[in-house]
Amino acid sequence: MPNDRPKQIWDAALLESVHGRTDKADRVRRMFDAIAPTYERVNAWASLGQDRVWRREMVRLAAVRPDDVLLDVASGTGDVLRAFSVADTRPAQLIGLDFSHAMLLRAARGPLAHCLFCQADALAIPLPEQSVSIVTCAFGIRNFQDLGAGFREMQRVLRPGGRVVLLEFSLPEHTLLRRMYLYYIQKLMPYFAGFLSGDRTGAYRYLPQSVVSFESSQAVRARMKTAGFSGITEYPLTGGVVTIYMARKSSGK
Ligand SMILES: C[S@@+](CC[C@H](N)C(=O)[O-])C[C@H]1O[C@@H](n2cnc3c(N)ncnc32)[C@H](O)[C@@H]1O
Repeated sequence: MPNDRPKQIWDAALLESVHGRTDKADRVRRMFDAIAPTYERVNAWASLGQDRVWRREMVRLAAVRPDDVLLDVASGTGDVLRAFSVADTRPAQLIGLDFSHAMLLRAARGPLAHCLFCQADALAIPLPEQSVSIVTCAFGIRNFQDLGAGFREMQRVLRPGGRVVLLEFSLPEHTLLRRMYLYYIQKLMPYFAGFLSGDRTGAYRYLPQSVVSFESSQAVRARMKTAGFSGITEYPLTGGVVTIYMARKSSGK
């Protein structure tokens, strides 16, 4: 019988330069295809239930209007779409985009039947210019092959005056908190997340490595500005473990 268990995707050598690899996107996609069945359960455990709180904060900050068209980039199994679907004010249209087929299949099930889904790369969004009024992305931008290109695509599909709401891991500034957090994500989390998921791909080694070597929040803001966003604000949550970035596309563009 063929052994179709997903094989290792990230080894120690590859993890030394996760963001610089030319095959990063392909590895990331295969990794999420492999961990899709246990993704939500492990997330809830690893974040001690905070992941839902963070997405609810995204919903609050997005201040959706009933005529909004919302594109959730890197929508995964649909947790962000679900958070917007149960909010008091819901957008007129919700669209989820992800390049992992296995993640999207889970999103498309059950209560998200009212959403549109699209399997595509965030760096080449198959939507016309100025077709959506909000772009959201939770825990996606860190995984992009080219962050600047990702921001330019978000900018392209947004209507003038449209907004982005991005949620991403960051590192606490407080020294003690940062040390404790690094110990948690680098030493403890990979063991129990690996145990809970049965993962063999190295996904829960990639996670801390991609967080610690990701761009600082200042650098993320600078890239957003270069892509043409204005009014860029950041909201660190849970002591800076994650940050929400918000910005607008200028009305004149
Ligand atoms: C950590 S999961 C986040 C899923 C969801 N947003 C959430 O909050 O749980 C990252 C997702 O981003 C997707 N992804 C990463 N890079 C992508 C890209 N370039 N284009 C499309 N999807 C991408 C992965 O397939 C994965 O489903």
